[in-house]
Amino acid sequence: MRQQIAAANWKMNLTLPEGEQLVKTLIQANIPLKNHQRVLIGVPFPYLVPLQSLVKDIHGFDLMAQNCAATLNGAYTGEVSATMLKSLGIQWAIIGHSERREYQMESNALLAQKTDRLLEHDLYPVFCCGEPLQIREAGTHNSYVETQLKESLFHLSEEALRRIVIAYEPIWAIGTGKTATTEQAQEMHKHIRSVLEKQYGTTLANMVPVLYGGSVKANNASELFGQPDVDGGLVGGASLVADDFAAIIRSLKA
Ligand code: PGA
Repeated sequence: MRQQIAAANWKMNLTLPEGEQLVKTLIQANIPLKNHQRVLIGVPFPYLVPLQSLVKDIHGFDLMAQNCAATLNGAYTGEVSATMLKSLGIQWAIIGHSERREYQMESNALLAQKTDRLLEHDLYPVFCCGEPLQIREAGTHNSYVETQLKESLFHLSEEALRRIVIAYEPIWAIGTGKTATTEQAQEMHKHIRSVLEKQYGTTLANMVPVLYGGSVKANNASELFGQPDVDGGLVGGASLVADDFAAIIRSLKA
């Protein structure tokens, strides 16, 4: 079975003590993870090192950066590179979150570079895609997401694509409490897989985990994750509450 992933995206929330408490509570919940199940916790950069000591021996748990630079070093004040993350032992990074696309003007071309930097350093990108409300209302969401994938990922070799996790996050569902219906999620995830299939073939398309993000909650995760092409979720708000995120982890396909 494909990897099933519950990924937390804390965004710019929680102090370090609050974050430590949250991770400890999650660990104490002692959720048995199967080999195909994984928990990723996307935390602010300064928390990566202190929290790593808590999760490093926990089976199936990993920390994740929320971004990485498109360049490796140099005069880029405030940026953090793939080399730096690797030197901390971090293996995962979110890239292309819609908040960064919107507020930091990140383009598909820039995200292609970020993807390359991560892969060159053996990190795993969690690549976010998804359409804004006006595109959904215009009915052009399938081609919009297809363009995001093509322009940021389709230069990759088959070998490289195997290391990608995709997160489909319709922007109109992020932080709004307005979840996509299970049908809307499944339809888009199936579309994403068919786009991958055209470029990379069936075997590879069937290997890539595609997560859903956008108001995933403890009470809708099972239904969403139960869809055949939904391989878990990228979770914002509900990942800040230990009991809720624990319930979301328990909703991964067994
Ligand atoms: P949300 O955020 O779960 O709060 O909607 C999801 C995300 O932005 O990754």
